[in-house]
Amino acid sequence: MDHILITGGAGFVGANLAIYLKQRFPRVKISVLDNLIRRGSELNIPRLQDATIDFIRGDVRNREELLQLPAMDVIIDAAAEPSVLSGIKDGPQMLVDINFQGTLNCLELARKYKSDFIYLSTNRVYSYPLLNSLSFTENTTRFEYASGTPYFQKGIDENFDTSGLKSFYGASKLASESFIREYAHHYDFNAIINRCGVIAGPWQMGKVDQGFVALWVIAHYFGKSLQYLGYGGQGKQVRDVLHVDDLCKLISSQLSNDFPGECKTYNVGGTWTNSISLLELTGITENITGRKLDIGADEETRVVDMRIYYTDASKVQNDYQWQAEKTVEECVADTFNWINKNEKSLVKIFKH
Ligand SMILES: NC(=O)c1ccc[n+]([C@@H]2O[C@H](COP(=O)([O-])OP(=O)(O)OC[C@H]3O[C@@H](n4cnc5c(N)ncnc54)[C@H](O)[C@@H]3O)[C@@H](O)[C@H]2O)c1
Repeated sequence: MDHILITGGAGFVGANLAIYLKQRFPRVKISVLDNLIRRGSELNIPRLQDATIDFIRGDVRNREELLQLPAMDVIIDAAAEPSVLSGIKDGPQMLVDINFQGTLNCLELARKYKSDFIYLSTNRVYSYPLLNSLSFTENTTRFEYASGTPYFQKGIDENFDTSGLKSFYGASKLASESFIREYAHHYDFNAIINRCGVIAGPWQMGKVDQGFVALWVIAHYFGKSLQYLGYGGQGKQVRDVLHVDDLCKLISSQLSNDFPGECKTYNVGGTWTNSISLLELTGITENITGRKLDIGADEETRVVDMRIYYTDASKVQNDYQWQAEKTVEECVADTFNWINKNEKSLVKIFKH
């Protein structure tokens, strides 16, 4: 392995991954390509440069430009518009251009150089009406799948239904997944699809529609307003959280092992052990930041919201002897320390 390209490499996952892989494989050239459309991604450029990672300002929608890049052995596609609400209000054209056409362009690049391909997909490929129809219970702090259902404390595996509604975001990622399998098969290159749940940790530019753990810590740190949205406004929705360092470890292991013969798809997440409701997250965040906010409530559930999702990661755990090690508390503490250390530059992005 001589050269790895990470698209969206100035973003939260991309930049953390680039720096992690550079430490793990110091002799490998690592390039990142990003158009800096995500507010705050520009703050990653100095850390990427300090780590001797090549930054290319570029756009995955520009196929000609992409195909002029020098050869690489691996492409990690982490460029996306990652908000699940994207496209719903204003139409999905931009989302399709970035998340689907952008990935097709990256696949053309993989085809050209026979590069291995790792794709950052999402649990949003699963049908949310079906997820929301699963029987559940409610206790004082969270919703939970009903005991006796196959999902109770086990989570959602790769065989869950993807045919129902899933949001434009989920649809754009599922369409990309299909093409990745076809490209890898017909043009004879290796591919892995990692369907991630919630990822958290330092350098996540959290906002209301994406990156809720960082959003929670940022709001507490800067004293901004927060709301529990949907499901009665009680903050009982549940997700599992994966520290970005654990994701980096997994991808590093995927690169160190032989790629599977056929493109494999994995559910990747913190699992039930690292599951948390918003209400519970508030308690942890208050402890770590030392600030208590008066959190508002909006009872109305947003159209694509999910009551409960946590990952059954057995397949990826078995194949890579990997599992999430960092707790939700560590995600919150690491995010807090990052904000504390970089307050001056972050205040411009997060204060208002
Ligand atoms: N963060 C999560 O919780 C999460 C969960 C599941 C899946 N994912 C997936 O992981 C990947 C990375 O997400 P993230 O959290 O780092 O998001 P991010 O927004 O922090 O990073 C994405 C980066 O892509 C860049 N980008 C957007 N459009 C581009 C374009 N046309 N050309 C070049 N660069 C472009 C942005 O500027 C940004 O830096 C995405 O594919 C996302 O769908 C993320």
